[in-house]
Amino acid sequence: MSDNRPIGIFDSGLGGLTSVRAIKELLPNEHIIYFGDTARTPYGSKSVDTINKFAQEIVQFLIENDVKVIGIACNTVSASSLKNLKKSFPEMTFIDIIQPMVEASRNIVKEQAKIVVIGTEVTINSGMYEQKIKQILPNTKVISKACPLFVTLIEQGLLSDPLLDSAIHTYLDQIMAQEKPEYLILGCTHYPLISDRLQKFYPDVKILNPALSQAEATKKILFENNLAADPNQDAKYTFYASDLSDIFQNMIEHILADDSSEINFKELRL
Ligand code: DGL
Repeated sequence: MSDNRPIGIFDSGLGGLTSVRAIKELLPNEHIIYFGDTARTPYGSKSVDTINKFAQEIVQFLIENDVKVIGIACNTVSASSLKNLKKSFPEMTFIDIIQPMVEASRNIVKEQAKIVVIGTEVTINSGMYEQKIKQILPNTKVISKACPLFVTLIEQGLLSDPLLDSAIHTYLDQIMAQEKPEYLILGCTHYPLISDRLQKFYPDVKILNPALSQAEATKKILFENNLAADPNQDAKYTFYASDLSDIFQNMIEHILADDSSEINFKELRL
């Protein structure tokens, strides 16, 4: 039995494309509908009430497009709005991005390791990574650090700009030198796009990208619930953005570069 309905994926902007990349890699036959709320990004310094409202609107839109499950490709929404979304849409299966990373860390992270988690203000202030990791790995030390400017710079496409380098040094040099962590969790889906810069400045740290664990979790849910697409299906990708900028389209083309799949772009203001 197969289910050829699309997977819905959303983020505040283009960061969630890193989740699309990971899901596409593991599940190449799945149709995907993506929504990036580029007109209202960044979410990470907004109030939880506002984020709840935006997330509800996007989920409603994805459900109207007959998605079979929804991947929340946004740590900020996962931290602030998951409970709310589950309550409002009890029939829908949500795959958040924090829980799969925490569960995977059980097998990846060494006991007594030091872990630095970086993310938006909302994600870091929620304390969610820290609490959940400590529950399963009580002997680790988890240090959290908000890096609010990263998202804005990435949304502007400044991936290798000196401004970005200077923001990285300002937020992280001291913590990385003092704590010498073994692991750095990219607790924002925009950050894998600057993973090479981070690795260059902090070569000894092992970088963990939660999008990979989220993709594994998505695969498991689809297969366990008979929701996987026909393995012979050619996947189609539809990308909606609330502000369809060139940067957004270029990033998608960059991420899906070597691909001949059908790709559509659409602008939609909610
Ligand atoms: N990419 C999102 C995250 O994972 C949010 C970025 C933002 O809008 O602040 O948290």
